[in-house]
Amino acid sequence: MAIQRLTLQNFRNLEKVDLQPAAGLNLIYGENGSGKTSLLEAIYLLSLVRSFRSKKLKNLISHTDTRFTVFAQLVDDEGHLLPLGIQREQSSDETEILLRGQRPASIAELTAHLPVQLINPDAFRLLEGGPRERRQFLDWGAFHVEPRFIYAWQRFQRALKQRNSLLRHARIDPLQLELWEKEIAATGEEVTLYRETYLKQLKPLFVKLLSRLSNIEGFRLHFLRGWDKNLPLLDSLNASRQKDSEQGFTQTGPQRADLRVTIDGRSAIEVLSRGQQKLVVSALKLAQGELLASSGNKRCIYLIDDLPAELDRYHREVFCHVLEEQESQVFITSVDEAALQVAWKEPEKILWFHVEQGQISLKT
Ligand SMILES: Nc1ncnc2c1ncn2[C@@H]1O[C@H](COP(=O)(O)OP(=O)(O)OP(=O)(O)O)[C@@H](O)[C@H]1O
Ligand SMILES: [Mg+2]
Repeated sequence: MAIQRLTLQNFRNLEKVDLQPAAGLNLIYGENGSGKTSLLEAIYLLSLVRSFRSKKLKNLISHTDTRFTVFAQLVDDEGHLLPLGIQREQSSDETEILLRGQRPASIAELTAHLPVQLINPDAFRLLEGGPRERRQFLDWGAFHVEPRFIYAWQRFQRALKQRNSLLRHARIDPLQLELWEKEIAATGEEVTLYRETYLKQLKPLFVKLLSRLSNIEGFRLHFLRGWDKNLPLLDSLNASRQKDSEQGFTQTGPQRADLRVTIDGRSAIEVLSRGQQKLVVSALKLAQGELLASSGNKRCIYLIDDLPAELDRYHREVFCHVLEEQESQVFITSVDEAALQVAWKEPEKILWFHVEQGQISLKT
């Protein structure tokens, strides 16, 4: 999937934008505060109906207006067009979404059409932050390559909620509890299987990409499923009933899964420099894109915000070459135009955009 045309109205400082991006590389430069990150944020919004820097979508509405509109004409690999629009009003609590002129059944439908990978200066959080981010990373992948994942995941979340709510009752109905535990166990084991299978497929692609991007060695990705590896989930739930009812929530299961990232047995975050962390996270995300292209037959859009941040000239160049090889639509931003002038293999296919105080123009 690629964006053939993108129009924005009153989205942060971007009052009126109308772009026809290249199907491949789009290089975007402009001063601090000109609107580069806002442009990427608008594309990210189209995929996930959330922002990567604001909790509330109302914050994305221009201070000088009461509503933003983001509209994209998407085109899939077979050339089919798919219009997608998102609008948010200051006075309303609802976000209006129209996909092919109709309200989609769920946000997952948008995400399935328009997978987006963001690599920005916060990327290291995937390593440094809590397990939730790493679970989201795994689930993004499992969701896109395994169609059954979302159903198992939704059923699991529902059952978990029910068990947690029962645990908080003064008198717990044991029959009800048993019922929900069975459902958690069945769906939780399924979710875990998809996560494990996904990671197994991802690893070789990640190793290959990481070796291109850096010379870091001794790297290991290890999946922790969230409960005792010697017990079926149902037994683990049974065993922790007492503790769980004291705490009022379920402390064991796939909702506690994590991905441990180590180098020669040490936590990656303790060993790697910031630039190296960025390269590792980039390799992880690019591997996700490659796996999606090979197994799901879908191409994701890469959003690379502030590409030069933390990277020296050499690593910037290899990163750019790896991006160019993805054969996907890529949006790369930089404050400095010169930082994007690398030895591109097919410079004639690249579009350059200059952002100035909320205006975006094609550089010819
Ligand atoms: N809701 C809003 N309405 C209007 N302007 C906003 C809104 N939210 C943020 N801004 C402004 O939009 C401008 C663009 O921000 P953005 O983060 O996109 O800039 P940038 O080009 O990525 O800058 P940098 O190079 O510093 O990362 C900033 O000046 C910011 O203060
Ligand atoms: Mg920015």
